[in-house]
Order: sequence, then C-alpha cells, then structure tokens
Amino acid sequence: MIVLIGFMGAGKTTVGRLLADRLGLPFLDSDLVIEQRTGRQVREIFAENGEPAFRILEHEVIVDLLDGPDAVLALGGGAPEHPGTQLRLKQADVVYLQVGYQQAMQRVAGDEYRPLLARPGLDELYQRRLDVYGAVASLIIATDGRQPEAIGADVIERLGVTGLPR
Ligand code: S3P
Repeated sequence: MIVLIGFMGAGKTTVGRLLADRLGLPFLDSDLVIEQRTGRQVREIFAENGEPAFRILEHEVIVDLLDGPDAVLALGGGAPEHPGTQLRLKQADVVYLQVGYQQAMQRVAGDEYRPLLARPGLDELYQRRLDVYGAVASLIIATDGRQPEAIGADVIERLGVTGLPR
C-alpha cells in the first residue's frame, strides 16, 4: 500500500493516478470514497455536520481502505492529523508530497469544493501540519515547480518499487 499525504494542492490525486497507472495498482482517494459511500460531497458534510464529524468518517474510511487490497491511496490533507490514522500509517509506505504555501495556494485558489480554503488562519494550519506530515512520512518528495510525471518517477525510484514495463 502506497499512501500519499500532503497539504491541499500538493498533487496527491494527480501524482497518485500516475503512480497507480505505472505500478498497475488501483487508485483510491479518501475524499472520493467518502463521497461515494455517503452520497454527499465533502463540502456538504463540513457544512451540515461539521469538521469533527468529517474527521471521524475520514478515519473510518481510511482504516477500511488500509485493510483492503494493495493500492495507491491519496489522503485528504487533514487526515494525517488523526492520531488513530497516524498509528495505522506505520504499516504503509507513506509518501509526503511537500509543497510550499504559495505554490499550494496558486494550485487550489478559489476551489469552492475545498471548504478549508475559506477559513481564516490557513497559513497557520499549513505550518502546524508540516511537522505532522514529516513525522508520519517514510519518504519526502519536494514538488514545487515540478511536473507530476517527474514526481511520480522520483517516488518509484526512491521507494524501490517496480513500475510496469512501457
Ligand atoms: C482537507 C483537504 C481536502 C478534503 C477536505 C479537508 C484538509 O482534501 O479532505 O476538504 O483538511 O486539508 P485535499 O487535500 O485532497 O484537498
């Protein structure tokens, strides 16, 4: 199981799809699985049930996915803050896609499907999470100014996993 973590805009979904394709594994995205299972959008869950309810649901879905067949799994940006999720991530190859705050904001600015972007103190949240991501990562990959293909190739090389022949 290869798990991608990082702040919003780090490229977890884009790089995750590339990696899954290259490795011949299914691609999973915790936000999409939450949306499929609940039939509701992440932003609706935030608005109607609040962030704490979303975090509980997110943890349950991630545990379930980690227990399932091997895959490339992209986590929502806040997922690694959950202590229970942190424990479970010890069993996986956790790739932290590192993105600078400015670059992250350029990539996701104005996305109304990301409820946290409308919150004050986003830069403080970013700062706080840097340590969390670093602590759970098995591998840290810088992404600023790089193309997804190059990042994906870097992950494959540094994890020592074998890609499918092209
Ligand atoms: C969140 C990031 C989002 C999504 C939710 C909360 C966060 O996922 O899980 O909006 O707390 O950073 P992405 O990181 O894929 O944008």
